[in-house]
Amino acid sequence: MRSATAIANPNIAFIKYWGDRERALRLPANGSISMNLDGLYTRTEVVFDPALQQDSLTLDGHSITGSGLERVSALLERVRRMAGMALHARVSSENNFPAGAGLASSASAFAALSLASSAAAGLQLSEQELSRLARTGSGSACRSVPGGFVEWQMGEGDQDSYAFSIASPAHWRLVDCVAIVSHEHKPTGSTEGHARAQTSPLHAARLAEVGRLLVDCRHAILSRDFEALARAIEMDCHLMHAVMMTSMPALIYWQPATLEVMQAVRDWREAGLPVCYTIDAGPNVHVICEEQVAAQVRAQLGQIDGVKQVLAAGVGGPARLEIR
Ligand code: DP6
Repeated sequence: MRSATAIANPNIAFIKYWGDRERALRLPANGSISMNLDGLYTRTEVVFDPALQQDSLTLDGHSITGSGLERVSALLERVRRMAGMALHARVSSENNFPAGAGLASSASAFAALSLASSAAAGLQLSEQELSRLARTGSGSACRSVPGGFVEWQMGEGDQDSYAFSIASPAHWRLVDCVAIVSHEHKPTGSTEGHARAQTSPLHAARLAEVGRLLVDCRHAILSRDFEALARAIEMDCHLMHAVMMTSMPALIYWQPATLEVMQAVRDWREAGLPVCYTIDAGPNVHVICEEQVAAQVRAQLGQIDGVKQVLAAGVGGPARLEIR
């Protein structure tokens, strides 16, 4: 038996991945930039066992079959092909953050699975190779492989579509305060949403802007310019949600409390607080701020009607193997 355990953080995208050029390999329609989230993680153990007739998956102690298991098996199949082996695997995974909290668990899950399964298979993949492997499981997972602030270059094909670190966690002590307005599972997940992007007349308009936003966002991070960061990430958040809302059928993720939080954050920034927001494929709002105001921002968010809970995470490191 060969086994390995890996840990990976989720990430929050500042410039979003929305829509693919090529679905099967998850080659994105545009590059993206994100921050890993410290303290939140998926831990995954992979055991290749000659006694198994097929792959199996447990998530937080529950056995998973159907499409969830198929997605994991497809990634294991890639690893088996790379390692030239045929053994099936037992995969056990746990998250230390609540499901449906507006945190993409697929990013940390497929980053941890890529590292644990490749190590258990005896492969020593480079960070680039791991990031490419994770990408095929869930696009945003490629950004949870390197640490800190991360850019996923769209690339021309499978070989050069991977993520790399543009700044370390220590470079800028930002905090993501996640204002949870709903714990419910979203009706349309991102996998289906990506396919729908092309049905929006605004998709092409967003793609025409994204190159400039990537430059602005990267520069804002490197120079720790909060105002410039706020401009770039709120613009891309609005552009992506405009694409979602004008897709066929329309994807409308915002709830009244989502807008309450957006408005409050804009008012606070106007009043001088370094704070801005971004929103993924759900109603919860990721409120990004500098560390010195994080306690105040958390407290103020908690007072908004409709905010049920506030989680906070600083900048996280890379996916890593757990040595026991
Ligand atoms: C809105 O990476 O979750 O969070 O590849 O189908 O798993 P799949 O999609 P996923 O999409 C993420 C969408 C997003 C924006 C982002 O994280 O860049």
